[in-house]
Amino acid sequence: MREMVSLILLLVLLVSASDAHVTKPNEENFLRCLRYRTNPENPITAALYTHDNSTFVSSYVSYAKNKRYSNPNDTKLVAIVAAKHESHVQATVVCAKFNGIQIRIRSGGHDYEGLSYISSVPFVILDMHDLRSISIDVSRKQAWVDAGATLGELYTKIAEASKTLAFAAGVCPTLGAGGHISGGGYGNLIRKYGLSVDHVVDARVVDVNGSILTGANLGKDLLWAIRGGGGASFGVILSWKIKLVDVPKTLTVFKVNKTLEQGATDVLYKWQLVSSKLPHELFLRAMPELANVAIPSKKTIAVVFYAQFLGPARRLMAIMNKRFPELGLKREDCYEMSWINTTLFWQNYPVGTPISVLLDRPSNPAGALFKSKSDYVKKPIPKEGMEKVWKIMLKFNNMFMQWNPYGGVMDKIPENATPFPHRKGNLFKIQYFALWSYANATEANLGLMNEIYDVMEPYVSSNPREAFLNYRDMDVGNNPSDKTDVGEAKIYGSKYFLGNLKRLMEVKAKYDPENFFRYEQSIPPVRAM
Ligand SMILES: Cc1cc2nc3c(=O)[nH]c(=O)nc-3n(C[C@H](O)[C@H](O)[C@H](O)COP(=O)(O)OP(=O)(O)OC[C@H]3O[C@@H](n4cnc5c(N)ncnc54)[C@H](O)[C@@H]3O)c2cc1C
Ligand SMILES: *[C@@H]1O[C@H](CO)[C@@H](O)[C@H](O)[C@H]1NC(C)=O
Ligand SMILES: *[C@@H]1O[C@H](CO)[C@@H](O)[C@H](O)[C@H]1NC(C)=O
Ligand SMILES: *[C@@H]1O[C@H](CO)[C@@H](O)[C@H](O)[C@H]1NC(C)=O
Ligand SMILES: *[C@@H]1O[C@H](CO)[C@@H](O)[C@H](O)[C@H]1NC(C)=O
Ligand SMILES: *[C@@H]1O[C@H](CO)[C@@H](O)[C@H](O)[C@H]1NC(C)=O
Ligand SMILES: *[C@@H]1O[C@H](CO)[C@@H](O)[C@H](O)[C@H]1NC(C)=O
Repeated sequence: MREMVSLILLLVLLVSASDAHVTKPNEENFLRCLRYRTNPENPITAALYTHDNSTFVSSYVSYAKNKRYSNPNDTKLVAIVAAKHESHVQATVVCAKFNGIQIRIRSGGHDYEGLSYISSVPFVILDMHDLRSISIDVSRKQAWVDAGATLGELYTKIAEASKTLAFAAGVCPTLGAGGHISGGGYGNLIRKYGLSVDHVVDARVVDVNGSILTGANLGKDLLWAIRGGGGASFGVILSWKIKLVDVPKTLTVFKVNKTLEQGATDVLYKWQLVSSKLPHELFLRAMPELANVAIPSKKTIAVVFYAQFLGPARRLMAIMNKRFPELGLKREDCYEMSWINTTLFWQNYPVGTPISVLLDRPSNPAGALFKSKSDYVKKPIPKEGMEKVWKIMLKFNNMFMQWNPYGGVMDKIPENATPFPHRKGNLFKIQYFALWSYANATEANLGLMNEIYDVMEPYVSSNPREAFLNYRDMDVGNNPSDKTDVGEAKIYGSKYFLGNLKRLMEVKAKYDPENFFRYEQSIPPVRAM
């Protein structure tokens, strides 16, 4: 009887909404719709937060990682659905669509521009962090990982199951599988194994009608699109089926640090020539960062070289002595360890830190405000160019860069194998990252970020100046929350996807022709001519 009433009410709600044709946001109907669509065994009320709930703010901020955008009092935010069951995801999609409410899908909440938790029109945050199961199949070297799992959880589960399997993905253990993988998934196994998306073989996706697509029911074109095109333009990813990769029992890592006074510029110049040509087993990142910031007369730049080698220290030493003696690597700089322990090293944890830190989900994020930008470099940057960059860097209080080497299998995987196009011919990718503590420093930091981006222009990719989707940057083009201008979308889309944009737009037109899954940098539905 209750179900009957619910069904009738639901129909009334749906009909009244579709009657209107233009779906004017109807927040009350949206909330009512959610409650009526709820599956009695898994009531959505346990997952639904509105501003009235005492835990609303903590639920919001736990996964709003960039304080610049964190705004729990946002009156456009109708509700947070922190889904505990797949039916909650389905109900949220259907009810939001019928009631003109936008959806912002959030897994780990690391989006650099806050696009998983802000909008200028009425919206719901569909928060995936409670959907976090992981199952590992060692014999098939495969796993299913839910969107709300973190990389740290995934890495831990893999290491528990096998000492010689790993997954190619990012460095920060709190990244969410949902956003990170659908945006490419870049990490220190890239030269040997490519990106996360190169190892995704299936997924479970909630489409615009609220249906779950997987296996034979998940179109090959849709699976292609979510492997690097950004999930949120196409549907809600519930989970990924991934292939695990082989790693040896013993890896070697090191960290070597050179300041400008110690000749960092020359060493980094040489790094540009060799880092993308080293054996695929060796990933050697250079991180220019500020040093001695507290003592103005001594403020300088230190370039920290971090490496990971899939093999023992003895072999690594031989390679380094032959190919890059300028770095002056010593045997005592090298540490041999298991793959799981390298994930701690990359986070700068001191030796001896228990691996359980990989499971931390800090509820109050570091609390920083930040801005990031990216570039691709195809020819070595001359020393004069590097010196110009150091001058600007020194004006920041807290800023670093990551120069991440390419080459290896990245030169071999075709540009259209996945939407992620930045493959062959790149020496390295740069990430610029500035962080600060209070809003009164935002303007100055953004100004300096623009300065550094301008000065780099002659040395990086052009026409278009490429950018990495996972390093979300609103400056490369963006639309208002509620309108997707195709011309503007082609501007940011071509920087993120180059020639793959066209196919992404066609897939979008096929699976979401009315552009429900839209946001400030989404893919517009454009049919092939
Ligand atoms: C400290 C830090 C370190 C980082 N390190 C790396 C790194 O090593 N390598 C790298 O590649 N990137 C890195 N990133 C960038 C990171 O990969 C992206 O920010 C990524 O989008 C984060 O995913 P998320 O789920 O945590 O973020 P969210 O903010 O939750 O999501 C990001 C985007 O994906 C969408 N999305 C999220 N979940 C889903 C889903 N289930 N279905 C559909 N769409 C979804 C969101 O709507 C949003 O558009 C780092 C970021 C930070 C802040
Ligand atoms: C939020 O408050 C409503 C109304 O009191 C309640 O039904 C719901 O269960 C609360 N949500 C959560 C997640 O506790
Ligand atoms: C949100 O509003 C509450 C109540 O008005 C206020 O105490 C709080 O400081 C506000 N939070 C933010 C982040 O603005
Ligand atoms: C690199 O060296 C500088 C200067 O000695 C020092 O301040 C900084 O902490 C070092 N960085 C790392 C990551 O070791
Ligand atoms: C990994 O780190 C843990 C904690 O520091 C340590 O106990 C363990 O011996 C390390 N294992 C390997 C193989 O490096
Ligand atoms: C910025 O705000 C912080 C915190 O309120 C304050 O301590 C600092 O002095 C301010 N800085 C400037 C330059 O106004
Ligand atoms: C969604 O439903 C509509 C109407 O039934 C249908 O035309 C469309 O093909 C469906 N979309 C998807 C992605 O299956």
